[in-house]
Amino acid sequence: MVHGGAGALDNVKDDKIAFRYLESIRRILEHGRDVMELGGSALQAVEACASLLEDDPAFNAGCGSVLNENGKVEMDAAIMDGRDLSAGAIAAVDNIANPVQLARLVMTESEHVMLISEGAMRFADHCGMERVPEDYFYTADRVEQLRKARLKHKVMLDHDDTEEDSEDQKYGTIGAIARDPKGNLAAATSTGGIVNKRMGRVGDSPIVGAGVYADNETCAVSATGFGEDFMRTVISKTISDFMLMKDLDAKQATAAGIEYLVRKVKGRGGVIVIDRDGKCSSGFTTKKMIHGWIEKGGETTCRF
Ligand code: GLY
Repeated sequence: MVHGGAGALDNVKDDKIAFRYLESIRRILEHGRDVMELGGSALQAVEACASLLEDDPAFNAGCGSVLNENGKVEMDAAIMDGRDLSAGAIAAVDNIANPVQLARLVMTESEHVMLISEGAMRFADHCGMERVPEDYFYTADRVEQLRKARLKHKVMLDHDDTEEDSEDQKYGTIGAIARDPKGNLAAATSTGGIVNKRMGRVGDSPIVGAGVYADNETCAVSATGFGEDFMRTVISKTISDFMLMKDLDAKQATAAGIEYLVRKVKGRGGVIVIDRDGKCSSGFTTKKMIHGWIEKGGETTCRF
């Protein structure tokens, strides 16, 4: 399963834009299927899919990241392996094309789970990761989006849910989750965060249990939306716990998680979930969520 953000997505009324989003999601899902058909693991599949989503400027991650209050990109990402709960995360990084790949290196090449800002960039240099120039990230659209947010003195969700702002909100957090034929689960989430966020603000995406979670005993989860809501409810781990403690499947646990998110914090956003049996599920409190899935090697389905 992959997602490309949750929100009003009123800009997607235009058929051409809708087609563009859905084709990208379809192409990336099928790439993930190919990775696993060729013997790749769930972890390799989610890293590959998240990297492709980061490379598509339509989404709010990697080259499509939104800008903070200083007009700069600060990206967060995480990856988690359900086999042994190993995880890697980075926060507030810039000049890296694929933050999810840096998160994977934190997991496999360091003794830590999370590195941030300058320390994460130093680690990227240590690993020989190429730095991309600032103009790799900037587009006229994102500069305009920040200008409007500044005028309103507010931060904006990746795809804001209000009519007033929705036109500006065409970039979304991305995520990928997978179960491979061996039954291993993995999850990855990556984002530029929210428009006009304070410098140094970190959202849910790199926080294990909030924006990302994978445990072979339960499920893989990736979240998208207003990060503060997901951090306060630890939503991805909460869904996993519902599954474990109440013996729920993906659909039931997703519904329980969304009910909890709304009841406790009126949370804005959504989740994608695959359970240990390979059942796929999604839930969102926003009008729409761009997402797609291939369940048990079947047909590719894309929705928003
Ligand atoms: N869900 C992305 C963020 O709030 O940063």
